[in-house]
Amino acid sequence: MMQQMNEQQKARLASLAKSFERRKKVGEHLSKIKHRIGVYSAKGGVGKTTVAVNLALALARRGARVGLLDADIDCPNADKVLGMSRRPEFRDGALYPGERAGVKLISTASFQEKEDEAQIWRGPIISNTLNQFLEMTEWGDLDYLIVDMPPGTSDSPLTVMQSLQMEAFIAVTTPQDLAVLDTKRSINMIKKMNIDVLGIVENMSGGVFGTGGGERVAKEMGIPFLGRLELAKEFGEMGEDVAVLKHEKVRKAYDRIIDAFEKELAKLPPPPVIPPQMGAPIQMSPKRE
Ligand SMILES: Nc1ncnc2c1ncn2[C@@H]1O[C@H](COP(=O)(O)OP(=O)(O)OP(=O)(O)O)[C@@H](O)[C@H]1O
Ligand SMILES: [Mg+2]
Repeated sequence: MMQQMNEQQKARLASLAKSFERRKKVGEHLSKIKHRIGVYSAKGGVGKTTVAVNLALALARRGARVGLLDADIDCPNADKVLGMSRRPEFRDGALYPGERAGVKLISTASFQEKEDEAQIWRGPIISNTLNQFLEMTEWGDLDYLIVDMPPGTSDSPLTVMQSLQMEAFIAVTTPQDLAVLDTKRSINMIKKMNIDVLGIVENMSGGVFGTGGGERVAKEMGIPFLGRLELAKEFGEMGEDVAVLKHEKVRKAYDRIIDAFEKELAKLPPPPVIPPQMGAPIQMSPKRE
């Protein structure tokens, strides 16, 4: 019996040491990333991935060191929108992101055997997968890690928000009334998690959808309006022809959004320092006053 207890204790100790090592590794990696910003909307299909990818590319064009994490583990597609020129590699126990035009990308899509495979992963597995990415990915020093979030207000986005210790979010909306209601839900969800919202981007603005919904929610909720992106073919182009790299007009629109959110980012208190020797404490950024 005594012997068995000791074995159990040993196993428990080994597992604790392993988990400490993992947290330490995650802490080391996160401490090299200045800003972790999620692109989110509760509603599907409003352009989260499009905005996340083009924002990352526009930031990289301005000289920032940028990583992009596709956290939509159920339906990853940021790799398709970005059109990677270098695929991620697994080498000596570490994961090296794929890359295009200065944006480093990690996505579960890169590790799927079949592109159209359905992933049905519940919270703990999502959390585990993200933690493994955080533990193994060698991003190097980054100014920004942009996170393409899954839609919804349930398990998946919640788990992602918790696992990644996000600093702030950019909310994406389309201009119509119904979308505006969903955007309020999205923002309330982020606030419940005690994470800052840098502002709202109105995507697919103009044409059949009208315009102004994004600005209206921003005003009603006392959140900055960061700018609008037109509903137009060139704004939705992807892969080889990804919008920001191809069209000057798109580049300018994203540059205005970056100017606006960097101003907001500068108002936030500095993100909590994660001391690598202490492992990664799961803590949220303090809210701005
Ligand atoms: N401003 C725009 N003008 C035209 N097409 C756009 C624009 N923004 C996005 N699109 C197109 O709309 C579709 C949906 O965009 P996207 O996949 O980025 O949405 P999403 O919010 O990430 O969706 P999901 O919730 O499924 O993750 C894509 O085909 C994209 O190319
Ligand atoms: Mg998406």
